Amino acid sequence: MHTDFEKIKQEALTKINLALDLGMLDEVRNVYLAKKGLVMSLMGRIKDLSPDEKRVFGQAINELKKVLEEALFARHETLSTIALNEKLENEKLDLSLPGKEPFIAPQHPFHLIKDEISDIFIGMGYQIAEGQEVEEDYFNFTLLNMPENHPARDMQDSLYIDNKRLLRTHTSPVQAREMQKNKNKPLKIISPGKVYRRDDDMTHSHQFGQVEGLVIGEGLSLGNLKATLDLFVKKMFGPKREIRFRSSYFPFTEPSVEVDVSCHECNGKGCSTCKGTGWIEILGAGMVNPNVLTMNGYDPTRFSGFAFGIGIERVAMLRFGIDDIRRFYQNDVRFLDQFPKR
Ligand code: DAH
Repeated sequence: MHTDFEKIKQEALTKINLALDLGMLDEVRNVYLAKKGLVMSLMGRIKDLSPDEKRVFGQAINELKKVLEEALFARHETLSTIALNEKLENEKLDLSLPGKEPFIAPQHPFHLIKDEISDIFIGMGYQIAEGQEVEEDYFNFTLLNMPENHPARDMQDSLYIDNKRLLRTHTSPVQAREMQKNKNKPLKIISPGKVYRRDDDMTHSHQFGQVEGLVIGEGLSLGNLKATLDLFVKKMFGPKREIRFRSSYFPFTEPSVEVDVSCHECNGKGCSTCKGTGWIEILGAGMVNPNVLTMNGYDPTRFSGFAFGIGIERVAMLRFGIDDIRRFYQNDVRFLDQFPKR
């Protein structure tokens, strides 16, 4: 019996190298090396051979088996690498693709300006004082020199909760509360927050924001107030803006002033924005009335103080050229989207 081992080997090696994937390679392996494969059936013949033939034939089979196993192993390595590379190629992530941008809401112009005002005063050494929106009329009016039946109460025609409490009509009650807490100690605070009145038109809203300011110390004058507000206006509206004081009346300050800023549109010459005057009113202020100091625990012979109340929307309207205060509360995305993102 003659078996052409060389021919079997060459055929097998050709088939192994022609296997294009791991599945095909397995089929080739089965043909040669499985239990019923060629190599095993050759081995089955050994028993019929003479001892000499057994040795030669056995060696040839082992040699064949070894060569095939090695070739199968090498081809398996190659095909696995090819398969892995293909998989990696197909699953490739393009990391250079821009991601989906999440929606980031712009900051509301009210809060944007409220924070800017606060930052400016914090930079001048002021501390933030918290007030309360539901306020006692005693703090909202009486302690600010507006006793019951004072006509100035009417000017802020208000939203009462019961006959003692109301939604505060201004942030000024924070002045009284802070003075009562600190009695005869220097004070330098601002208090931003919401206030409520029975008002509704293009420039007035039933709800709006104010930033109250209060400084108490020894020897403070109107000059300190003017320097403070001048710096505030220049930081908020630009270094070219000037301020002027016009005398006015508030029950809690004496003297009282309305503060105007020179018009940003015409630089003070007079235009439609400033109604021809060159000036735009931005806030009320004054020296703290000695009655208010006394009622709230300060000695007016030793202490003096100045106070101011800034309308947040007013400042925002001027800064951004907003025409109607109601836009602040309508939640119109076309309006809100025009402001800088955080
Ligand atoms: N509270 C006043 C208002 O709502 C604004 C104001 C004026 C506040 C003068 C002050 C001030 O502190 O000194 O109209």
